[in-house]
Amino acid sequence: MSEETIKLNIKRQENNETQPYWEEFEVGYRENMNVISALMDIQTNPVNAKGQKTTPVTWDMNCLEEVCGICSMVINGGARQSCTALIDQLEQPITLEPMATFPVVKDLQVDRSFMFEGLKRVQAWVPIDGTHDLGPGPRIPEKKRQTSYELSKCMSCGVCLEVCPNVNDNSGFMGAAAISQVRLFNLHPTGSMNKDERLEALMDEGGIAECGMAQNCVQACPQGIPLTTSIAAMQRESSFHMFKSFFGSDQEVE
Ligand code: FES
Repeated sequence: MSEETIKLNIKRQENNETQPYWEEFEVGYRENMNVISALMDIQTNPVNAKGQKTTPVTWDMNCLEEVCGICSMVINGGARQSCTALIDQLEQPITLEPMATFPVVKDLQVDRSFMFEGLKRVQAWVPIDGTHDLGPGPRIPEKKRQTSYELSKCMSCGVCLEVCPNVNDNSGFMGAAAISQVRLFNLHPTGSMNKDERLEALMDEGGIAECGMAQNCVQACPQGIPLTTSIAAMQRESSFHMFKSFFGSDQEVE
């Protein structure tokens, strides 16, 4: 077994009300380790770099393949998923911090409810009237399908909110993820029945008007979703919706 060790510096916090502190750890190196496997080693043997017994570090994980987004944290200063953060590709000591945009539950685990509330506000779903077999849905033009597929890759990880300067304690800005999901569900033939409600939610407080076009979201999105294109498209649609409502026109314009 290799004697090589991995050095980690982890920002710890008992809960959102207590002061954070840093604790250093060293774990044995194995090939192909990721941040989560290092954290699991600490969990198995919670002893810090000074050799003192400590409490196991808390974090969230689920799919382990960058699909669910729950393991997001700030690794060496950048928000990303810890399950795909390979130790061999990280400079040491590896610093791990919780995402700062969300309240800390404990250590690296955060409460992302704010983001999910945004998705609820914009009705980021296609309503169905039962769980029975509804048969094949309407055909979707290929170009639209391709766009929808890209937008559907959003895993609600929260990275776009973490990097956005306009998502903070003083602003109710819902962030790019919810705006992009409005675009996705408004493109869907059935989902578009609730298009107006979604656009109105976007035009409400904390909606699209709060976006300062910093463009950090599109650079940080781990799925490469064209978030700024979505924001621009939704700005156009909500302006048109406002215009249409003002003049009382029911006519759809493509
Ligand atoms: S555990 Fe699901 S994205 Fe990392």
